[in-house]
Amino acid sequence: MALTYASYLKLDEILALQEPRSDGPEHDELLFIVIHQVYELWFKQILHEVDFLAAALRKGEGARAHHTLKRVLTILKVLVHQVDILETMTPLEFLSFRDRLESGSGFQSFQFRETEFALGYKHAEALSRYPEGSAHRARLARRLEAPTLWDAFLHWLAQRGHALPAGTLDRDVTQAVTPHAALQDLLVRLYRSDTEARAVCERLVDLDEGLLEWRYRHVRMVERTIGARTGTGGSSGAAYLRGTLDQRLFPDLWEIRTRL
Ligand code: HEM
Repeated sequence: MALTYASYLKLDEILALQEPRSDGPEHDELLFIVIHQVYELWFKQILHEVDFLAAALRKGEGARAHHTLKRVLTILKVLVHQVDILETMTPLEFLSFRDRLESGSGFQSFQFRETEFALGYKHAEALSRYPEGSAHRARLARRLEAPTLWDAFLHWLAQRGHALPAGTLDRDVTQAVTPHAALQDLLVRLYRSDTEARAVCERLVDLDEGLLEWRYRHVRMVERTIGARTGTGGSSGAAYLRGTLDQRLFPDLWEIRTRL
């Protein structure tokens, strides 16, 4: 059979995957499912691009890395904007089917955790939310062990002739990136001497800020939809999420601002 638009994109399969659980079903549950599925598809694309980006940096391909960073940033903007759509759902509309989510929550999005890990925010306790021996836990464990985008960026700087301080290139990649004073000294110098590296640094700050923007919009959406209720995933809800708003992926790039 000749290839068609529908067969190439597996549309029959994709369009059969939205299965509301509420009686009726409730009108708004379809939107809730669609938007989460769309987010997960974009998370998949972001992971694909971040892996490509890290590989480009390791190969010394600065221009390609910069271009890929811009694509990731554009996707992130879409992710932030999509919150607007879900905010058209009122608290009562959400409560009409919320019980049917049981303990399911974005908290358990393994691709979101993989994205955090790939970018540089490692937190091993996230693995405990996935059953031992499960494929999702294995995926996350692989990401935990792998170097992050920040590590690829540091290697790229070294390749460009910058003398990276001890303890940076060989840092324990299973840990979150922590501020490093000597590295900040180097970054301050680099901002004045290496235009291409400075541009990549600025895109990394955009990325960090972009993820924070998503976190901010998500927590405001949660507050307006469920108030101070606890989350279906078992956290304190908005209070827990507010605690993530200060999370920085690349702390050194923020620390140097006052010195530039
Ligand atoms: C009515 C809409 C939504 C509500 C009320 C809501 C509520 C919550 C709550 C309360 C949490 C905290 C964990 C918990 O105890 O469940 C959470 C976490 C999370 N949600 Fe949502 N959410 C909504 C929409 C979304 C959407 C569209 C996404 C897109 C994928 C999403 C992704 C996440 C992620 C990734 C986390 C983990 C954040 C972290 O731990 O830093 N949520 N959500």
